[in-house]
Amino acid sequence: MYTYEDYKAAADVIISSGGSRRTALVLGSGMGSLFSDCGRKISYSDIPNFPKPTAPMHRGELIISDKAYIMCGRFHRYEGYTPEQVSFYVRALYLAGVRQIILTNAAGAVNPAFVPGDIALITDHINLSGENPLIGMNEKRFGDRFFDMSEAYSRELRKAAAACADECGIELKEGVYFYMSGPSYETPAEIRAAAALGGDLVGMSTVFECITARHCGMKVLGVSCVTNMACGVKGVSVSAEDVEKTADAAGGRMRCLLGTIIERI
Ligand code: HPA
Repeated sequence: MYTYEDYKAAADVIISSGGSRRTALVLGSGMGSLFSDCGRKISYSDIPNFPKPTAPMHRGELIISDKAYIMCGRFHRYEGYTPEQVSFYVRALYLAGVRQIILTNAAGAVNPAFVPGDIALITDHINLSGENPLIGMNEKRFGDRFFDMSEAYSRELRKAAAACADECGIELKEGVYFYMSGPSYETPAEIRAAAALGGDLVGMSTVFECITARHCGMKVLGVSCVTNMACGVKGVSVSAEDVEKTADAAGGRMRCLLGTIIERI
């Protein structure tokens, strides 16, 4: 659906607004205002071809800080966007110079050893949605149609993130992210299935962006803020209010961790 020129047009506006950056940070639900004091801002509505975020807590601003592009708000499948639209910005950022991307999100804990408020590095993901942002014609200027996903989330960046967490006094968990489209939260049976299949975290974002980023050779770091136990784990139900409150409460630790990572990588 998009042409190479569509991505290029977005990249050109981003570069002309504040130059090129090698690192991008994407702020997930409840984290959109963590870095609002950190640089020049452009509204997504001023970037050609960017969709409009419609999800609550997704502001729709790109901050151009000294060290990184910071995306305050992303796009989700459940908003009605296609997987290609959801990850449009990844290719635009690639053409603006980005070679490493930090994808953050709010996630439910499938693994009963996690607790709300934990911060977890994503080691791998499971995408059984049957969807993939790269279905369709391959654009060779981004990458080969068939490509390796054996290290979807960079080992090197995880190691760097672990050192930054030590500096901030944060104990990091790690686990496999199980993608579900939402917008309904999962049923207890779906969460038991996710656990049986090896999932530790569940959420409604990140995987399409990770796939698109790996296609063009970017390194990916995935960081989840555990906002709730997933439905049925420890008998709980899930509410958007709890997700928001817990993401808010973890804001200070997320800012220390992500700010330190951006400085070091
Ligand atoms: N499920 C899916 N997405 C989520 C959850 C959850 O429990 N919590 C935050 N995002």
